Amino acid sequence: MLKGKHIVLGITGGIAAYKSAYLLRLLIKAGAEVQVVMTPAAKEFITPVTLSALSGKPVVSEFFTANTGEWHSHVDLGLWADAMVIAPATASTIGKMANGVADNMLVTTYLSAKAPVFVAPAMDLDMMAHPSTCRNLQLLKSYGNHIIEPATGELASHLVGKGRMEEPENIVKILDAFFEKSQSLAGKRVLITAGPTYEKIDPVRFIGNYSSGKMGYAIAEEAASRGAEVTVVSGPVSLSVSNPAIKVVKIESAKQMLDACAERFPSSDIAVMCAAVADYAPAHSSDKKIKREGHDAPVIELVKNPDIAKTLGGMKRKEQVLVGFALETDNEEVNAQGKLSSKRLDMIVLNSLRDAGAGFGTDTNKVTIYTADGRRLPFDVKSKAEVASDILDTIESL
Ligand code: C5P
Repeated sequence: MLKGKHIVLGITGGIAAYKSAYLLRLLIKAGAEVQVVMTPAAKEFITPVTLSALSGKPVVSEFFTANTGEWHSHVDLGLWADAMVIAPATASTIGKMANGVADNMLVTTYLSAKAPVFVAPAMDLDMMAHPSTCRNLQLLKSYGNHIIEPATGELASHLVGKGRMEEPENIVKILDAFFEKSQSLAGKRVLITAGPTYEKIDPVRFIGNYSSGKMGYAIAEEAASRGAEVTVVSGPVSLSVSNPAIKVVKIESAKQMLDACAERFPSSDIAVMCAAVADYAPAHSSDKKIKREGHDAPVIELVKNPDIAKTLGGMKRKEQVLVGFALETDNEEVNAQGKLSSKRLDMIVLNSLRDAGAGFGTDTNKVTIYTADGRRLPFDVKSKAEVASDILDTIESL
């Protein structure tokens, strides 16, 4: 999968920098084109001559070449890359990346990179365990960067603990698996509903719910990163998408969501019903704001909204995959299984409001997936991005 890929290999000043030469050689052997960017401190550990000989390209370290004034564009490098790998990544560089301290070519390239970024920390065990390092790595994760966890073993200080840079062979395997996954849904069309619906009472009031849309949008990003063409039919949320392969169709009511989905479902391969659709809508909405003065409290008559998932279940062809969600407070498994069959779903993702870290508005979720072919897959509390990945892995297994 690495053949022809453009990799920026960032090297920082740590003892493990000697392993970077081997990593570079493996990447070249796998067919990648590699541009090395070193921090000034990295040159104390390994020479640019070794690295430029192995990569076949001059190593970049400064913003310009002193004698000719030739400018090295970090923006161009950031755009050229299909992936950026920082190995080894010292505590200092991790801190700079997390906080935008752009005082060298490596960090400016990182800040300009549009491609996925992999960070392989290497440092002494106490530095690794320090709250500052942990917080900075957490920040990098929250930016969507991939942390290649260091191994536990003997360190340069002869102490034994967590902090050894992952072995070059494994870093190459991780990159290879990443590029393989990035095409696993190529050519597939994915339809996703997300967020709440608003059911209009009058021009300024509605019936709605607390859904943030985060889970649906995370699934959209994950599906797009696997090469799918994604449409999100979204209720009112304050989120935006970052992947250009995602089209967002904004709607407000359940009825509008149903129309948008029924139109697109026949040409979709996969549909994931993540929206928290209002169960009821006002039977009549007023064109004018309902006034309080001089009136008794109004009684709002409600009518049942259409069940979008169930409607699509009725339209479903054999080769299409339809996925629903169940947000339950009690009798979780029975309720989820019931919805799986009554809506003719291929799988259902259960989140229980009894679990800490699950449900509306949070950045994490804890789910159990039930498939129509009889599997029950419980997962731990994870970020919604990681849950999205588990959900798509299971969809792919179908
Ligand atoms: O029946 P319940 O609302 O619990 O079912 C939840 C699942 O059904 C979710 O996948 C949700 O997006 C979908 N749903 C729907 N239209 C509705 C109600 C729920 O698509 N009116």
